[in-house]
Amino acid sequence: MSYNIAIDGPAGAGKSTVAKRVAKEKRFIYVDTGAMYRAMGLYFLREGIRAEDMGQVSEKCKNVDITISYVDGEQVVFLNGENVNGLIRTEEVGNMTSACSVNPQVRKKLVELQQRLARDADVVMDGRDIGTCVLPDADVKIYLTAGSGVRAKRRYEELQAKGMECDLEQIEKDIIERDSRDMNREISPLRQAEDAVFLDSSAMSIDEVVGKILELCQ
Ligand code: DC
Repeated sequence: MSYNIAIDGPAGAGKSTVAKRVAKEKRFIYVDTGAMYRAMGLYFLREGIRAEDMGQVSEKCKNVDITISYVDGEQVVFLNGENVNGLIRTEEVGNMTSACSVNPQVRKKLVELQQRLARDADVVMDGRDIGTCVLPDADVKIYLTAGSGVRAKRRYEELQAKGMECDLEQIEKDIIERDSRDMNREISPLRQAEDAVFLDSSAMSIDEVVGKILELCQ
């Protein structure tokens, strides 16, 4: 049986940073499910499909092949065979992704891939519905959050470090809108699983959060 750690939470809570560190410590595979949804979002953006057009999104998602592989321990996402890692981290893709990830066909396709990965290997998986839907029997479940102002500032600094133009106020607005959509959608909305441990990282360092999760694994 594989050992699974599920980390859910809103945008910018620090899930991926923490999940990567925990995976390294435990020698598990890190599965970034947001990146898979982002690859889908990128596809719809490129095709000029509106996220609200549920019929088109459902139909077109049949043509999308998303796979992942690992290069030097880093997850690489392929969209129809193309490595799209460098293209999916923009706010434009993030907003499109949140909008089209409400679609049941999109979710079904990616959840199956995620469940297969977790069955075959020990994983730390992060996303929005991991503890509630993808891996309901995960060994450790975390709900990681932080205030929206803190999360916006983190995302702002991350984008700035990459040399991208950005506006703090706009980022916070986008984050609040995205959270509201992710938490209020009909299918597998973002919420804390009943058996998940709640961690607020607003006043915690990365080390503290990682330490807490490793402790919970013991
Ligand atoms: O974690 P992220 O910011 O890369 O995720 C981008 C969007 O993808 C997020 O706003 C909602 C969607 N998503 C989802 O619906 N379910 C997941 N398990 C992961 C991401």
